[in-house]
Amino acid sequence: MKTLTILKPDDWHLHLREGPVLKNIIPFTSEYFGRAIVMPNTKIPITSIDSAISYKKTIVEALPGSSKFEPLMTMYLTDEADKRELISGFKNNVFFAAKLYPANATTNSSYGVKKIENLYEIFELMQDSGMPLLIHGEVTDTEVDVFDREEVFIDRELSPIAKRFPKLKIVLEHITTSYAVDFVQENNIGATITPHHLHINRNAMFFGGLNSDFYCLPVAKREKHRLALRKAATSGKECFFLGTDSAPHLRKWKAFCGCAGIFNSPVALESYLTVFEEENALDNFEKFSSLNGPKFYNVPPNKERIKLVSKPNKIVDFIDVFEQENIVGQIKPLHAGETLKWQVDGIVN
Ligand code: NCD
Ligand code: ZN
Repeated sequence: MKTLTILKPDDWHLHLREGPVLKNIIPFTSEYFGRAIVMPNTKIPITSIDSAISYKKTIVEALPGSSKFEPLMTMYLTDEADKRELISGFKNNVFFAAKLYPANATTNSSYGVKKIENLYEIFELMQDSGMPLLIHGEVTDTEVDVFDREEVFIDRELSPIAKRFPKLKIVLEHITTSYAVDFVQENNIGATITPHHLHINRNAMFFGGLNSDFYCLPVAKREKHRLALRKAATSGKECFFLGTDSAPHLRKWKAFCGCAGIFNSPVALESYLTVFEEENALDNFEKFSSLNGPKFYNVPPNKERIKLVSKPNKIVDFIDVFEQENIVGQIKPLHAGETLKWQVDGIVN
């Protein structure tokens, strides 16, 4: 049996939601991840210091008793974003970063930014104070083909930002194209890569009928892009790090409206590891999962270690969401019904 012991990973892009969903899903992350950057796209987005403090409190209260997991909070940028609030929240360790959603790009992004140039003054301040800018990199222009939105965003929006603010710490989140892989490396920025974009290409959404289980944003692209992402993630290069973009939606909503988001936190490490093994890159896994992110964000890596073992791991079809004793819904995880070859064995002391 193969085993791998690595420093405890962090998830640099995670949706934790609220209410019963939060309570039911958080253990999947808090058990084996030291920290996670928590996305601010709650129903009412996190746009102020007060709302971030209160959301963090809700998250911490939902953690299993002995957990040392640390949620890292983000401020959701809007057209009206208050620069004093943002910078003071960062300087006072309330906000770890700011998140830019172009308006209507994805789930709960209707409050997002309509004209990114209007935020340039804020980017200047973020650059000066070292506050990271996390970007959902897709244009929302309906004339742009859905599969081209990341590439067009890079040309229209990201490239000018990266040129104008060369010292701004930018992360292009959940990259999906070879174009993004190249841009990240050439422009000295960071990128998160999800497990699902390493496993599926766009065909998955159309296999056996329209299948919203594999619909997320940015949408999965052609096979050549998946292969480029696998190469980037497993390369060990410092600019690429783990960010699951685990985005749970109750089955009833997913089936009803096909909302965007794939829930992967129960299988994330095993899913990534499968890819690293297939690419003969197990030696680089710790860099991707536990070292590159802390280095980019200038925080120390976690001290604890976790052990992973290669043994059959059957993934459940659904996770039940309980409210008190009642099941209020189910969420389908990535790899539902599959048997993966890796399993987390636990924390190593
Ligand atoms: C995310 C969600 O559901 O909050 N959905 C997704 O498809 N990734 C939002 C996001 O990160 O785009
Ligand atoms: Zn996300």
